[in-house]
Amino acid sequence: MAEILIANSDNIQIAANSLKNGELVSFPTETVYGLGANATDDDAVKRIFEAKKRPDFNPLIVHVSDWDMVEKYAQTNNRAKALAKHFWPGPLSIILPRKQNSELSTYVSGGLDTVALRQPEHIVAKSLLKCFGLPIAAPSANLSGSLSPTTPYHVQQSLDDKVDIILAGGKCSIGLESTIIDMTGDKAVVLRAGFILPETIADLLNEDVEIAYENVEVDKPHSPGQLLRHYAPNTPLRLKAVDITKDEILLAFGSTKFMSAEGKGGVPEERILNLSPSGDLLEAASNLFSMLHELDSKGYSRIAVMDIPKIGIGIAINDRLSRASNAQKEIGD
Ligand code: TXA
Ligand code: MG
Repeated sequence: MAEILIANSDNIQIAANSLKNGELVSFPTETVYGLGANATDDDAVKRIFEAKKRPDFNPLIVHVSDWDMVEKYAQTNNRAKALAKHFWPGPLSIILPRKQNSELSTYVSGGLDTVALRQPEHIVAKSLLKCFGLPIAAPSANLSGSLSPTTPYHVQQSLDDKVDIILAGGKCSIGLESTIIDMTGDKAVVLRAGFILPETIADLLNEDVEIAYENVEVDKPHSPGQLLRHYAPNTPLRLKAVDITKDEILLAFGSTKFMSAEGKGGVPEERILNLSPSGDLLEAASNLFSMLHELDSKGYSRIAVMDIPKIGIGIAINDRLSRASNAQKEIGD
């Protein structure tokens, strides 16, 4: 059973000691809750893969306290440094080549010679990194293939007996995983959509940025995680719904005035969760995983999802929803 501790400074110290002992600590970030281990300890990192039932070829994101920590473990370049300077601490993971003889566990890289790094902004994540003093490997704290956690309760539901400490720090403000950018080559490549948009990165770097999260070909994944079943609730999803049938529950966005249920007018309140009644995409992103978790537990045979505009963070919301609805068709893990 996990020990659930409120994230005050005494408990952050306890969690840092637990990491030093090779244990697993779940902690909040501004995106989602992470499942953390000492990134320089092979055995601790291996425990993450076991706990999540994650395939060992799928690499982890390493969380750092500052750019100096990056320089210690990875080969850096000026463009990557400019991104970190502008967007860190924040929801951007940067992939760089590992330094030769890097002290990071090779398991964090899943067999690749690169590593994904991120300095999180959440006060608890920052304090834990500072207290621990070493990089923390942390994927999202859920079983591989299922929904990412945005509250301590989600972590407990998914990994209770597999994590030593859960630092409880409320609901994650962004609610979607970080944008991932590969900076190992001449061209910057965005591997996962998130809060930070490709065009914002392109503006900052003053260069074209490639987008590699749409239409991923099975024989050419850019990121080992791209082909895995991801972000999926157990209940199937039906996207772009304009009505609901008798065995469906609705995940709404904006006004539901023109929605119908079983061919009749009006969807009953108890069969709706609304990501954002006012149509605010940021609010919708922060509610997406928690509402999917909740709808999943209600026993309906399908979740009907209203259309969400593909602009700004709406692109990342649509990315997660389409992966979830395609889950049965994709390669599972
Ligand atoms: O917001 C986030 O990024 C959260 C919080 C906890 O920081 N973490 C997270 O980690 O979402 P995870 O493990 O659930 O997703 C990491 C993704 C995977 O799809 C993995 O394949 C990819 O990052 N990745 C990690 N290292 C990589 C590398 N060296 N090359 C390519 N892809 C990599
Ligand atoms: Mg994940």
